[in-house]
Amino acid sequence: MTTQAPPPGRLAIYPGSFDPLTNGHVDIILRGARMFDRILVAVLVNAGKQPMFEAVDRVNMVREVFREYPNVEVDTFGGLLVDYAREKRATVIVRGLRAVSDFEYEFQMALMNRHLEPALETVFMMPAEQYTYLSSRLIKEVVSLGGDVHGLVPPLVEARLRERRQA
Ligand code: PNS
Repeated sequence: MTTQAPPPGRLAIYPGSFDPLTNGHVDIILRGARMFDRILVAVLVNAGKQPMFEAVDRVNMVREVFREYPNVEVDTFGGLLVDYAREKRATVIVRGLRAVSDFEYEFQMALMNRHLEPALETVFMMPAEQYTYLSSRLIKEVVSLGGDVHGLVPPLVEARLRERRQA
């Protein structure tokens, strides 16, 4: 357990692949920004499978959407989340919980992260009901098959997805 005092202001990390950012993510980030002094959206660089968007694009999209929110920061990370959280002196990990199906994976991850760094607390937040069925994976599938994702992702993400489909 770390004995260092955290810096002034409570920093929460919201980690994920964000490939791409959805309105479900936006909802959680806004809730986190109200709850904590600062929220750091941490975009995983090596998102195992081939991501649709490079990390730099994913970061830029989040930055653009939250450019008017001074307490929302965006960065990339690789390696263990707990190491990154320690480096940033964050005290909280934020994760969204949409449905019971998320629970097992999130529970395992939260307890593993607690094993690795007991001082880091995971906080789960539920997005608004209209986003409980949303995932980046489904967005990509719908877009690749020519479906409409209007209202499910921020307008600039929708535009980027459209460009990708046309390319
Ligand atoms: O949006 P995702 O893909 O569900 O996010 C998963 C993420 C990035 C939170 C998770 O894969 C992660 O923390 N990866 C970093 C590596 C790590 O620390 N693994 C051990 C966690 S138990």
